[in-house]
Amino acid sequence: MCGIIGYIGKKQVAPILIAGLRRLEYRGYDSAGICVLENNNLETIKKRGHIAELEQELNSREVLGTIGIAHTRWATHGEPNETNAHPHYDCTGNISIIHNGIIENFQSLKKLLESEGHKFVSETDSEVLAHLIEKFYSSDIESAVIKALKQVEGTFGLAVLCKNEEKIIVARRGSPLIIGVGEDEVFVASDASAILEYTKKVIYLKDNELAILSRDNYEIKNLDGVVSDFEIQEIKWSLDEIEKVGFKHFMLKEIFEQPRSIENTLRGRINGGKIKLSLNFNPKSINRIIITACGTSWHSALIGKYLIEKIAKIPVEVDYASEFRYRDPIIRSDDLFVVISQSGETADTLAALRQATVCETLGIVNVVGSTISREVKSGIYLHAGPEIGVASTKAFTCQVTAIILLALYIRQELGMDIDQRLVEEFIAIPEKIKIILDKSEKIKELSYNFTDAKNFLYLGRGVNFPVALEGALKLKEISYIHAEGYPAAEMKHGPIALIDENMFVVFIVNKGEIFEKVVSNMQEVKARGGKIICITDCPEEEMIKKLSSFIITVPETHEELSPLINVIPLQLMSYFVADAKGINVDKPRNLAKSVTVE
Ligand code: M6R
Repeated sequence: MCGIIGYIGKKQVAPILIAGLRRLEYRGYDSAGICVLENNNLETIKKRGHIAELEQELNSREVLGTIGIAHTRWATHGEPNETNAHPHYDCTGNISIIHNGIIENFQSLKKLLESEGHKFVSETDSEVLAHLIEKFYSSDIESAVIKALKQVEGTFGLAVLCKNEEKIIVARRGSPLIIGVGEDEVFVASDASAILEYTKKVIYLKDNELAILSRDNYEIKNLDGVVSDFEIQEIKWSLDEIEKVGFKHFMLKEIFEQPRSIENTLRGRINGGKIKLSLNFNPKSINRIIITACGTSWHSALIGKYLIEKIAKIPVEVDYASEFRYRDPIIRSDDLFVVISQSGETADTLAALRQATVCETLGIVNVVGSTISREVKSGIYLHAGPEIGVASTKAFTCQVTAIILLALYIRQELGMDIDQRLVEEFIAIPEKIKIILDKSEKIKELSYNFTDAKNFLYLGRGVNFPVALEGALKLKEISYIHAEGYPAAEMKHGPIALIDENMFVVFIVNKGEIFEKVVSNMQEVKARGGKIICITDCPEEEMIKKLSSFIITVPETHEELSPLINVIPLQLMSYFVADAKGINVDKPRNLAKSVTVE
């Protein structure tokens, strides 16, 4: 959700800003802009569209300077156009700002500022910040920003330039910002990928903190101007991890990374058949688990319900974070409150977490140092490496891996035996995923049958029902084909009315107790002319062959682990359909990687 980068140092800033924006583009890509400060002059260039448009504009003119800020936008207030793109100026043109977040009281502030003579040019909430800072500015930009932010309700990751002062002022509340510390240079960015090629030393700014960046120094304060303590941390990601390294899209690269990323999630956590997690709570004192999340992470949460109840025998409730925060949820002191988030910054998930004040909290998070990871009492990092593709893939399988670890760990700590065959199968999952990835060309060919499809149903049962939901979400978000996921048996309670010869129905069918039941559901679809795509570990079964128009074979595994296997062909299929339709799968329309607004 909007990306921010800023630089102050000795190098020419424009190329640094453009390179940073390119890496942040996955956060928002409807318009972008930069502002460079040189010799008491601010020069701003903004463009609607992708960063390439802005880059082209910059190639045609010389923008010199060693201090600058830049922004890539995901529109919330006002349509994507050049005027609404950031940076925004105050009336005098002396102050320039970029902002990520939402200023909730912008309408009342705007009214007040207009009554005082300020002229607004954009429809954005963000512009109000430039005018508010102008109102309080006499000769010191830092104190003007502090005074302005005291008037503001809502969230911000903010960077400010003033043409009279060689510094960048940045501030955060609710929207992530990190300070990158280099040799005689300082960066600010909304995430580490933007600055990784220059420095790995970062400071995670906390909520209600402000930083003053100058060429060779930085100071961190709270919003009352009092100096704060901070810690410089080292980013563990390598540059390769944020490059496409030969893949056409990040999404495809991330699908192929899954064997390695799952190994990383597992690393050091299974030893001699025992599960090792360092968590700050005693599972014996937990009577119920509540899991909240959004989107794909919510699908992982739902898998968590099936698996934790089955393996650890503790009741689990799963909620959309956005719903949880606005009902009157009952949270007890003997609950464990789990939040799942790739980014660790999703606004609704964070808000839900902040309601869990009376119980133990646990975060299953990928981004190290993210807000959620810092606010939970215990955590399981995924170590999946950066996920850049907007459609989540490797984060999903690593989340499911972490959940299985959690379920097994709780079982172990409650004194129940762990099935060692399950543990062995668990360790073998990365190799089994490789078997599916080796067949990707076949899945690609098969996917070309669906490029003109208008509707898909995804059906699965038990722990594979959430996989059906995830398959449907992947397809719709990157190929724009309408798709819904259902528990297979639920189909006859409504969705069956939709089935005709134009409907493609994906069935996830594994050997096991409910095999026959799912086959009956397949019969019902076939009888109505629907075309069946079967993801299965038993392609040799007569009925599977008879009923399916297309079959994708997956390796057999333990039922509890099957989501980790079954989701892989669904990810590949969505990718190949979308790519064949000419869609830029890393930047699907209207989406942003991390949703830091409500
Ligand atoms: O960073 P989070 O895991 O909290 O993000 C949650 C959702 O926004 C995210 O999973 C979204 O649904 C993805 N686009 C799915 O591919």
